[in-house]
Amino acid sequence: MNIAIAADHGGYELKEALKTHYQNLKMADLGTYDAESVDYPDMAQKMAHAVLSKMADLGILICGTGIGISIAANRFKGIRAALIYSQDAARLAKEHNNANVLVFGGRTMAVDDVIKYIDTFMQSTYQGGRHQRRLDKLDNME
Ligand code: RB5
Repeated sequence: MNIAIAADHGGYELKEALKTHYQNLKMADLGTYDAESVDYPDMAQKMAHAVLSKMADLGILICGTGIGISIAANRFKGIRAALIYSQDAARLAKEHNNANVLVFGGRTMAVDDVIKYIDTFMQSTYQGGRHQRRLDKLDNME
């Protein structure tokens, strides 16, 4: 699985910690590359293009709270960005939503928790069925 990661300045530290932890997965780092202020919509756009072009199978996005960058990423048709805040949310984001971007808050979440959430998501399986009908509706909303 190809994973890409991106953050604004509010998520920079968490991004670096996750890259260190998941060295074996060779995450593609789409930026930002230092703690200077950047705009989270720009980072969400980079990630959306990476996922929609299939350069990445899964994206990880981080801003200060995870809220702004979630809003931005979900503007792109085909992106299902899930702000993950618990183990259950991580499991259900895969089982029900088949999320293709996981979102975290660099200023609101602990690194160890985020690692547990990512691991849980990656060990879970999309259930399809009635959930696919709902996902299909997402791509046809006016
Ligand atoms: C940047 O200061 C901050 O607004 C951003 O990281 C994020 O939390 C927005 O939702």
